[in-house]
Amino acid sequence: MPVRRLRWGLVGLGSLARNGIVPAAARSAHAVIQAGATRDPEKGREFGQRHGIPRIHARYEDLVTDPEVDAVFVMTPNDRHREVVLAAAAAGKPVLCEKPLAMTEADAQAMIAACERAGVMLRLGLHLRFERFLDQVAAVIRSGAIGTPRALSIERTAPLAERAPWREDAARGGGILYDVGLHLLDLVPRLLGTDYAEVGGLAYPPPGGGQGADTISLLLRMQDGAQVALRASREAPHSGSDLTVLGTAGMLRTGPLRWVEEFTLTVTNAEGERVERHPASDLYRDELDGFALDLADGGRRLGTGEDGLRLVRLATRVEQAIREHRLVPLP
Ligand SMILES: NC(=O)c1ccc[n+]([C@@H]2O[C@H](COP(=O)([O-])OP(=O)(O)OC[C@H]3O[C@@H](n4cnc5c(N)ncnc54)[C@H](OP(=O)(O)O)[C@@H]3O)[C@@H](O)[C@H]2O)c1
Repeated sequence: MPVRRLRWGLVGLGSLARNGIVPAAARSAHAVIQAGATRDPEKGREFGQRHGIPRIHARYEDLVTDPEVDAVFVMTPNDRHREVVLAAAAAGKPVLCEKPLAMTEADAQAMIAACERAGVMLRLGLHLRFERFLDQVAAVIRSGAIGTPRALSIERTAPLAERAPWREDAARGGGILYDVGLHLLDLVPRLLGTDYAEVGGLAYPPPGGGQGADTISLLLRMQDGAQVALRASREAPHSGSDLTVLGTAGMLRTGPLRWVEEFTLTVTNAEGERVERHPASDLYRDELDGFALDLADGGRRLGTGEDGLRLVRLATRVEQAIREHRLVPLP
């Protein structure tokens, strides 16, 4: 199967472009960054020179119609994804949109419909789907080594280095729910093999003041009764992330899940304690390569528009649960 080396156009030359995607493309067999769009000409010149990006556009409308751009990567603030995805669809370009796909179900549906009508592939930036270690965690749970999972918890702290104004603004999807929260919500069903039934939660700052939450604690019940606790914070100064699963026959624990080159997984059951070590995956590189492969064979290595819509619906109900101080059923 021939897999193209895609010439990417990046819309939004911010933190993710600079620290994540541009360096990852240099390690990718199937990606080259050909163009970028920024509203700031000086920044565009500097960014293009520093990273060897030949084409810089002042408007995303010009980037999506650039004949030297094969695929569009949307990494604008969370409330500005829709317009770029619609423009890419109109230009007939396959598009990778950062999560969240949109801030409302209606917008997400409009984006999916536009891509379907135009016959362009729409994929979602959920880079944790490329962490093979998490597949291994899921496989251990599935193997029955810890019995039936009854409770799972993830704690994830990552201080935010760059606080762009939109990240403080709840209305623009600036809280931590739409940041790492969505990655964790996408991950749990993959680990437990069952979907959500209901959610309750707390946020700080609490909703109502207009400020995006820095810390959230969510309590979820899965359809099989398993209990899930997710806690994420971007205001604690030290990074950390780990995962624990309690089962009827044992326990699974990981060491830090980010910012390490090697992961550890410890399984404790009647046979004693077993420790596995696994290398960390190259998430953004594999995401770029996965997009090229999806384009070649129609696979779903990346999240799809439907996954994006599902997460928008989920996030909307999580916000409702936090706002109304109650458990909210999840469809
Ligand atoms: N999957 C992941 O690991 C991951 C990690 C980080 C972020 N993300 C996602 O990636 C997206 C971008 O995040 P980021 O951290 O890169 O954000 P950022 O640093 O604020 O960069 C966003 C860029 O979007 C451009 N932009 C276009 N329209 C804008 C507007 N109306 N207001 C403000 N900026 C506008 C700005 O570029 P110009 O000023 O140059 O036009 C800005 O540099 C978000 O959707 C975020 O959720 C994903």
